[in-house]
Amino acid sequence: MPDEPRRDSPSPMAPPVLQVDALTLAFGGVKALTNVGFSVAPGSITAVIGPNGAGKTSLFNTISGFYKPSQGHVRFEGQDITRLPAPKRAALGLARSFQNIALFRGMTVLDNIKLGRHAHLKTNVFDALFYLGRARREEAELRRDVEERIIDFLEIDHIRHASVAALPYGLQKRVEMARALAMQPKVLMLDEPVAGMNREETEDMARFILDVRREWGITVLMVEHDMGMVMDLSDHVVVLNFGQVIAQGTPAHVQADPEVIRAYLGAGDVGELRRRLRGESVATATAGVA
Ligand SMILES: Nc1ncnc2c1ncn2[C@@H]1O[C@H](COP(=O)(O)OP(=O)(O)OP(=O)(O)O)[C@@H](O)[C@H]1O
Ligand SMILES: [Mg+2]
Repeated sequence: MPDEPRRDSPSPMAPPVLQVDALTLAFGGVKALTNVGFSVAPGSITAVIGPNGAGKTSLFNTISGFYKPSQGHVRFEGQDITRLPAPKRAALGLARSFQNIALFRGMTVLDNIKLGRHAHLKTNVFDALFYLGRARREEAELRRDVEERIIDFLEIDHIRHASVAALPYGLQKRVEMARALAMQPKVLMLDEPVAGMNREETEDMARFILDVRREWGITVLMVEHDMGMVMDLSDHVVVLNFGQVIAQGTPAHVQADPEVIRAYLGAGDVGELRRRLRGESVATATAGVA
């Protein structure tokens, strides 16, 4: 991560870093995903959007290994990871945050960030017992260095010793991102990074997402309802409705797609909807289409 190239655009010619192929997932009789396929270009910011219940979180859970699809494949850097357990996927470089914050609330910010690194330890208990001396010291130093860079980057130095439970929601979301970054991922998956945030917090988070890509070379895959944010930040947008991909392409392409507009019609006033789908700047965005 520290030596990744600077980037502010995807590499569309390079092979996809993540590829989802014909994924199908059912809960009893409910088909949460049907034949879902798309690719994530390295260095891209890719967004998954869709009305409530469309299957976005189910898709994230399937990509990160919490749910097992009945059909289809997930490939990471060309490797089929469909059968790999979640921690192994994390160790390969797929990190994520959760729609509902999943931090250890009684612990400090710093301790939560340190926990992120555990996904990176490839040693077992016995290896760890013998893991002494210089290597261990170097590992500890490298670790501290990564943690410090993340704390600095996300501007959370002032709260490093604060208990997570005492923090406002926007800062908790930032700590969750810090923990995911501590895994030194290649792909960062964010489930609704700005949900519940006020405008200022949203703008900050949008800036961090752009910087994660630009300064650290990390590919971002996010689920988000805030259309202003999605249209401003994304290179590629995948639209889900009732568990199926109904459109994908650039923000301009999907917001003009009649099927996408139809899918969101239940969300309320058509004029308002068109305005939101056109994607205003983050600065003027209101709450997302939900
Ligand atoms: N663990 C589960 N058990 C049973 N059904 C589930 C489970 N998780 C999701 N579902 C169902 O799968 C469908 C997709 O839900 P999912 O949470 O993936 O949607 P979403 O697009 O993330 O929605 P939201 O925008 O509200 O977060 C819904 O019908 C939901 O009720
Ligand atoms: Mg969801």
